[in-house]
Amino acid sequence: MGMKVLVIGSGAREDALSWRLAASPSCEAIFAAPGNAGTESRGMNWEIAPTNGKALGARCKAEGIDLAVIGPETAIASGVGDRLREAGIATFGPDRSGGRLESSKIFAKRFMERHNIPTARAVVVHSLGAAQKVLDEWNGACVIKADGLAAGKGVVVAADPTEARRVLEEWYGGNRVPGGGADILLEEKLEGREVSVFAIGDGRTLLPFASACDYKRAGDGDTGPNTGGMGAYSPPHGFPSDLDEQVRARIIGPAMRGLQSDGERYVGVLYCGLMWTEKGPYVIEFNARFGDPETQVLMPRIDGDFAQLLKSAADGKLDPGVASLGERACVGIVLASADYPRSSTPLTDLPRDIALPEDVHAFWGTSSAQNGSVKSGGGRVLTLSATAGDLDSARAKAYDAVRDLTQRFGSSTGLTFRRDIALLQ
Ligand code: AMP
Ligand code: GLY
Repeated sequence: MGMKVLVIGSGAREDALSWRLAASPSCEAIFAAPGNAGTESRGMNWEIAPTNGKALGARCKAEGIDLAVIGPETAIASGVGDRLREAGIATFGPDRSGGRLESSKIFAKRFMERHNIPTARAVVVHSLGAAQKVLDEWNGACVIKADGLAAGKGVVVAADPTEARRVLEEWYGGNRVPGGGADILLEEKLEGREVSVFAIGDGRTLLPFASACDYKRAGDGDTGPNTGGMGAYSPPHGFPSDLDEQVRARIIGPAMRGLQSDGERYVGVLYCGLMWTEKGPYVIEFNARFGDPETQVLMPRIDGDFAQLLKSAADGKLDPGVASLGERACVGIVLASADYPRSSTPLTDLPRDIALPEDVHAFWGTSSAQNGSVKSGGGRVLTLSATAGDLDSARAKAYDAVRDLTQRFGSSTGLTFRRDIALLQ
């Protein structure tokens, strides 16, 4: 008998996960909590908040869920992994303790320092006075990071100490440190190109699985404000051909041994946000989950039984042979509401069934379906992902689909998107 699989979360990442899991030979039925317009089209949505571990555990037991997959960091940080495992549910996603690699930047920095994982030099401060003292000693660019989860708003790359001072005065002066705490990391700025590498952990081992590049700024040419992510492509282009081996040797191997020696049973994705510097890969951040929008370009590249892969990890015996990444390339473009990221006006009456070519997929962001049409939750409305034999062809296909779709939706939606995703130099 096949598995009943639950995906926790409501964004395009979760829609993509649910799509690939549902297409896995071992998956019999797919559920989502709370899900969105996309997950509802292939399974059942539960009206349970992604952070309500108790209710999720009880419902999983009642429905006989065989595997739960946690999407968002907020669920991990609020202990949903712990609650589900207590309820006896096989769960892909770390406990709150392992999730600190994402939920506390200071915890992550200490972990990296302790286990010799290359990362930017950093100092922790708790007050404006202490921060100013550090800035007096540094005279170049620096990066300011609030300790806790701040939905992508907790990091400022300051061009010089004057800008850094202004940000710190704003944060400390107005009691407005993103995430609500008082702890801040001041970090040296790394130069290079960014790449995200995803490793899968089963509590004992940590295995590199996939890599991708994402685009965080709102505007073409990496201009404008930071967003949740405006597009992604995979495989990464323009990095050393031994990227996987270097990342395994310098980052993932030491992280695995570090987790073991710290007594951490890490089950789930370790997302390594890397800067490829002159001296090789350095960690910018760890996340404890799949990336959004990277997941939307990884899922279409997966061959085999993805549900079985995650189940084997959740069971503590990762079986890498059951699923792998194919050779093809994938490019994903995010369509966002016109005012994103300043605000996020919901769009109504979007068509629910979007006819697309076979190798193009539409993944809905936070949204709900009503009488055959979709209401977006605002912000990132959907990701269009296209696969092809190489990146240039995948890119052309993705933008053809974007053009076609925005025409069908009509100009009144005012959907915006970046025009330079996967535009290779
Ligand atoms: P994070 O939220 O930690 O991913 O940071 C957001 C973005 O800030 C990253 O994607 C980088 O572009 C940039 N960033 C963070 N830390 C550094 C650093 N030490 N050096 C240069 N850029 C950084
Ligand atoms: N793509 C960035 C993130 O998921 O955090």
